[in-house]
Amino acid sequence: MNKITTFLPALFMLFASSCKQPSKTILSDFKPFIPPVDYETADKRADSLLEKLSVDEKIELIGGHKMFFTKGYEEYGIPEFYFSDATQGVHIRNELENQVEKSTAFPCPLALAATWNVTLAREYAKSIGEECRAGGIAVLLGPGMNLYRVSQNGRNFEYFGEDPYLAARMIENYVTGVQSTGTIATLKHFLCNNTDFHRRRSNSVADERTLHEIYLPAFKAGVDAGAMAVMTSYNQVNGEWAAQSDYVISKLLRQDLGFKWLVMSDWWSVWDPVKAIKAGLDLDMPGHSIKNLFDSNEFESMYVRTNAKRLLDEDRIAQEDLHRMAKNMLATFISMGLFDRPVKDTSYLKNFEKHEQTALQTARESMVLLRNTNNILPIDKSADLKVLLTGEYVEKNAEGGGSARVEGYNIITMLDALTQEFGDMIKYLPEPTANQISDADMILLSIGTNDNEGWDRPFALPDKTDSLVLNTAALNPNVVVIVNSGSGIQMTGWRDKVAAILYAWYPGQTGNKALAEVISGKTNPSGKLPISIEKRFEDSPGYPYIPEDKTFYSDWKQDIDMTIPVYDIYYDEGVFVGYRWYESQDIQPLYPFGFGLSYTSFEYDNLRVYDKGISKGEEIVVEFVVKNTGRVEGVETVQLYIQDVESSVLRPLKELKGFKKITLPPGESVKVKFTLKLKDLSFWDVKTHEWVAEQGMYKILIGASSADIRLTEEVNYKLEN
Ligand code: BGC
Repeated sequence: MNKITTFLPALFMLFASSCKQPSKTILSDFKPFIPPVDYETADKRADSLLEKLSVDEKIELIGGHKMFFTKGYEEYGIPEFYFSDATQGVHIRNELENQVEKSTAFPCPLALAATWNVTLAREYAKSIGEECRAGGIAVLLGPGMNLYRVSQNGRNFEYFGEDPYLAARMIENYVTGVQSTGTIATLKHFLCNNTDFHRRRSNSVADERTLHEIYLPAFKAGVDAGAMAVMTSYNQVNGEWAAQSDYVISKLLRQDLGFKWLVMSDWWSVWDPVKAIKAGLDLDMPGHSIKNLFDSNEFESMYVRTNAKRLLDEDRIAQEDLHRMAKNMLATFISMGLFDRPVKDTSYLKNFEKHEQTALQTARESMVLLRNTNNILPIDKSADLKVLLTGEYVEKNAEGGGSARVEGYNIITMLDALTQEFGDMIKYLPEPTANQISDADMILLSIGTNDNEGWDRPFALPDKTDSLVLNTAALNPNVVVIVNSGSGIQMTGWRDKVAAILYAWYPGQTGNKALAEVISGKTNPSGKLPISIEKRFEDSPGYPYIPEDKTFYSDWKQDIDMTIPVYDIYYDEGVFVGYRWYESQDIQPLYPFGFGLSYTSFEYDNLRVYDKGISKGEEIVVEFVVKNTGRVEGVETVQLYIQDVESSVLRPLKELKGFKKITLPPGESVKVKFTLKLKDLSFWDVKTHEWVAEQGMYKILIGASSADIRLTEEVNYKLEN
């Protein structure tokens, strides 16, 4: 049966000549977004417009209308604006009028993070921004960027993984990509919305340092990149609902991050309009109840728009509050130029083919090869092999659900893509017999999860899925497991029993084509994990977070159940999230952050650090050489971590501070250069409330993953006298 080992050398010769590469070396030429109308001018224009409006008319502006719109006044030249989800493409709501006729389903944002390709993040987001323009969408309700604290979070697929530095670099590029098209990007969900388990009833309790080092950096990067809207989250942060928390909005967002544009609530998440108004919220979405959801009288007092007049009469809010809210909103739209041109521009429809290519390229670069025993992959198309395809997501594509869901078009199933790539060599059997499994030369086994907004799902797979893998592996040693999931899953029980594991995330409408290319070797896999995958959920930093008397659910009814008492989630692990946690606790994850195999190999050498003794204002220049030592062209993402050797506070053993993606033909090497600033050595000091680098020794660690450090050097930072 096992013909696999006999054809490998021939395959490599073939592969070396045909291997197509995902991308060039990625160097970020990042520049923040500058809006067409400057802040001061927009502010003045908003002020003079608002002079014409009565109080009642102003009140109409500060709450949403028709679920996804803001109020327009033709007589004053104020258009109504359409807001639409989300980070992985435009969610088409057929119940609304004038929808864009189609939208591209991109690989999920976590897959985008697995590419570690900031240029691609910008292109991906630019495509989505263009589709917004084609559909008349003024405000994209994304990017989402809540950090991966627990693998069970049902919305992890919408976000950018566990590391604040990686997430920040992707987000800043995402924001500039969307906004370069004239579409406003919304950073969401602010803040600490790291689980969807009864998300409207959870209270995230986190300290100042943890917020600044872990949960704020991606938002900060988005703000610095010029994002013009922020959406608050459903949960409480340190005892108050985010949408009405002065600490969250006025202190953290406005004061600490310096955000000056539009702050909106998540849908139905204001409970006390006075608090929300005083906390600094500008826009309550969607502003009203809808049938079957918050439509009882009990909830009437929660809406800002419908209560504002009464609150004004009762002197509980002031006219200035309303003015501020309406002005922030109008100034944001004016600054983006939305009062000076139409939002809708159907000429962008001609770019959809390009968007589809961007989606495909993202999928190519996102696939993470976790295991490849005896180089079972790639499969040689010309070999005489019987490849059996089976499993869950062969005929229907795996995707994340909720507001982020994008239907897509030109959908390619796994079956279509593999058949196109391999022809008759692939035999699909939905329910193969034991004989059929053992007779095959190789099995491609598809498994996955359906992750969804509104609830979490267990890290452990259902028993039937685990049994499927184990039973198949017991009959055939050449099982390649293809995982479609929006987060980490438990693979511990069968990892060592299968020949290969390919993590394909939710790959979008054409992602299975990329999968087939990776399996055939046309594309050399280059994705690296933006998350750690633990052996068991109990190992993870966020365990336990679900109240003892509660169990998993998967329906919207429970999501909006307001009778559940608010439950606290203590972020006791502090800054030790993801690999920072596993390393400090000496727990081996099954697969570490930053890990991913290639069909080639890379050597790291010759690390030089200039200057090893630095003082304030100086930079540390780090150089080393990477060589492709295999037989095919490949892409490596090199990672730079720092370690504070002599810190006065407890710090992680590693903190990512740089990465670069490099394409190298076989046998070739390249010099890689990083420049580190003092900020890169710093931690958030709770005494001074700022970033501080202490003098002393730091290690510079260069690696192929967080657990595979190849080169190390020490630097000494001296404070000036
Ligand atoms: C989600 C947001 C989304 C909004 C509008 C909410 O349920 O949490 O992410 O943007 O709905 O669809």
